[in-house]
Amino acid sequence: MRQQFVAGNWKMHGSLAANAALLGEVLAGTTATRCDVAVCVPYPYLAQCQHLLQTSTVALGAQDCSVHASGAHTGEVAVGMLREFGCGYVIVGHSERRADHHESDALVAAKAQRVLEADMTPIVCVGETLAQREAGETATVVVRQLRAVTELLRQQSRRIVVAYEPVWAIGTGRTASPEQAQEVHAVLRAHLAQVGADIGAAVRILYGGSVKPDNAQVLFAQPDIDGGLIGGASLKASDFLAIVAAAK
Ligand code: PGA
Repeated sequence: MRQQFVAGNWKMHGSLAANAALLGEVLAGTTATRCDVAVCVPYPYLAQCQHLLQTSTVALGAQDCSVHASGAHTGEVAVGMLREFGCGYVIVGHSERRADHHESDALVAAKAQRVLEADMTPIVCVGETLAQREAGETATVVVRQLRAVTELLRQQSRRIVVAYEPVWAIGTGRTASPEQAQEVHAVLRAHLAQVGADIGAAVRILYGGSVKPDNAQVLFAQPDIDGGLIGGASLKASDFLAIVAAAK
């Protein structure tokens, strides 16, 4: 039985004051949650959020990491550093990084491997663009993206979390219908099951892309949807808490 998981992706939002207010409300509202909860925050706020979350059940995550362990890589952040600040999760391969920073499937897979080496859980994002969906390429694209990771990690793949985020649904207010999302989640789970039956059964596949309080419950009720990766709605405590409450 997979425990449902709701992770907030704050993206490049926040301030010391705003984070303290947001997490104060989130912590007050998550004392008795049934699902796992995490917030993935910008690097400079990791120390602050580590401190604010230290007695809570809400886990801390980062939004990216370097593929290198250390060295002359100006501006990059190593997984060992994220671990030191209490991260349990690292998002890799978010579509904004794939698009804005030309991250390839191979690079995303290598980052996922680094995250595992540092004893954290990679949240591996996959998803098709609108043009790819309209060309009927959705399954091919998302399986190609996930296969890069499963071929590199093999049996270790059981330790990842996958997030299906259709690019056309991110930040647009346009959500995949529960049926559209479930269809892709089933394809991803079938791929994982080919790597190992237990891997298909164990790996959590989150849905992301305009998840809001009014659509979370029906999305999370789909058999292969194990929670959500929440962008915009994770910045408003009442919305984030309503989405957490919608998880099983
Ligand atoms: P959104 O973002 O919920 O604002 O659509 C989701 C994401 O990009 O992780």
